[in-house]
Amino acid sequence: MIICIGAGPGDAAYLPQRSAQRLQEADVIAGFDAVLDVVSPLIPAAATVIRMGYRDQVAQLDEVARLHHNGLRCVVVFMGDIHFSGFQYLERVERACGHPVETMPGISSAQVLASRAKVCFDETTFITFHRRGDLSPFKRHLVHVLQDGRNAIVIPCPWDAARSFMPCHIAAYLLENGIPPQHPTEVWENLTRREAEWHGTLAECADKVFSDMSIMLIRTLQPMASQIEAAGTV
Ligand SMILES: C[S@@+](CC[C@H](N)C(=O)[O-])C[C@H]1O[C@@H](n2cnc3c(N)ncnc32)[C@H](O)[C@@H]1O
Repeated sequence: MIICIGAGPGDAAYLPQRSAQRLQEADVIAGFDAVLDVVSPLIPAAATVIRMGYRDQVAQLDEVARLHHNGLRCVVVFMGDIHFSGFQYLERVERACGHPVETMPGISSAQVLASRAKVCFDETTFITFHRRGDLSPFKRHLVHVLQDGRNAIVIPCPWDAARSFMPCHIAAYLLENGIPPQHPTEVWENLTRREAEWHGTLAECADKVFSDMSIMLIRTLQPMASQIEAAGTV
């Protein structure tokens, strides 16, 4: 058996009970170091722990798949919720196993941000740049989201200098593409741990530096609901 669960984002107290139960029953628990550290108090002493990093993840997931095919109960732990900015890793798990695997919902950094910043999901689009491959379609989509009067919750890309697309780069890109500088913008860091929050405008964000563990909210200037009401179509 193999199951993927989401932990955190940051504090293990946000782990759903069903996922905690799966961890406590597991023979094998695998994941990136930072994520396994979150759940370490819940890992049974007898469980085999398979830690991995960016470089050795394929080989380590092959080992998890081998143990799963040998009949062991395996849990792969993701950060936050698998279903936001977790699918490329999920694809690697499924490639290693050779079949689709079960996933359990977790609590995303986006959900915690929405709760802290009081933003409604219905009027918000989630976009991640924390992904491999061409970012340009996602950049264009973000421009359209804001032009359509929706909020955007954005996970930046913290990788090497060539690829890095952090809040300052995101703000600069949006300004270059005609998004008004006065959009209210927030950046939250280390949610559920040592939280820090920054509030300003898109223009001000273009000069700010934030840590890798940050998530960004760009609020619409005019919510879509009020545009529809103003047009008299509701
Ligand atoms: C690969 S994405 C995974 C997101 C995760 N699946 C989720 O639902 O939160 C990792 C990025 O999410 C953001 N992130 C995750 N946890 C966070 C937290 N506690 N506070 C702020 N940002 C966080 C950071 O930008 C981090 O680099």
